[in-house]
Amino acid sequence: MFHLVLGGGLELRLLEERHAEEVFRATERNREQLREWLPWVDRTYSPEEPRQFILKSLEQHANREALAAGIFADGELAGTIGLHKLDMLNHGTSIGYWLGGAYQGRGIMTRACRAMVSHAFAEYALHRIEIRCAPGNVKSCAVPKRLGFVREGTAREAEWVNDRYLDLVIWGMLVQDWKG
Ligand SMILES: CC(C)(COP(=O)(O)OP(=O)(O)OC[C@H]1O[C@@H](n2cnc3c(N)ncnc32)[C@H](O)[C@@H]1OP(=O)(O)O)[C@@H](O)C(=O)NCCC(=O)NCCS
Repeated sequence: MFHLVLGGGLELRLLEERHAEEVFRATERNREQLREWLPWVDRTYSPEEPRQFILKSLEQHANREALAAGIFADGELAGTIGLHKLDMLNHGTSIGYWLGGAYQGRGIMTRACRAMVSHAFAEYALHRIEIRCAPGNVKSCAVPKRLGFVREGTAREAEWVNDRYLDLVIWGMLVQDWKG
């Protein structure tokens, strides 16, 4: 069972069906901010959508295809972080994340992401990890930048979110460059 204790009351835990309500409540509380950058928010109307997402993620996790984790601060769900798709042919993956507004500005995501990158390189023997974020999403781009990811380029109009196409900056980390 995936569970990393990061210290200072911070933990990453595999999302399970019992977390669906909490994920939904956090989505509701932060809907306006999250919908600006995340495509699934406008398709989330009840705990049923997170529940379906979690069940699918658990199955993928069991097959070593993906990982969806909750970020817990002092036992409360602060946000989530996940490996979208483990590409075992090319030894790569990409990371996605969000935090509730009350948990932002404290370095929580930078710590969570550092731990997830180390875990992904070690557990799945990966060679490359990507983080993609819109250039206008300054706080999100700051996370890979802070962790030493290289800004490799921009995929133009690559994601349909909140009624517009977003460009996505591609940030890449190779295992030999990871300082952990
Ligand atoms: C992207 C997102 C997770 C970033 O959250 P965040 O709180 O800015 O990121 P961190 O938790 O790493 O915190 C960094 C902030 O804490 C500060 N901080 C305090 N202590 C810190 C520490 N020990 N280490 C790093 N940063 C620290 C940093 O200075 C920074 O603040 P600043 O932006 O005012 O400079 C958040 O904005 C979010 O969820 N946005 C909506 C969803 C989204 O866009 N997801 C990503 C889609 S690609």
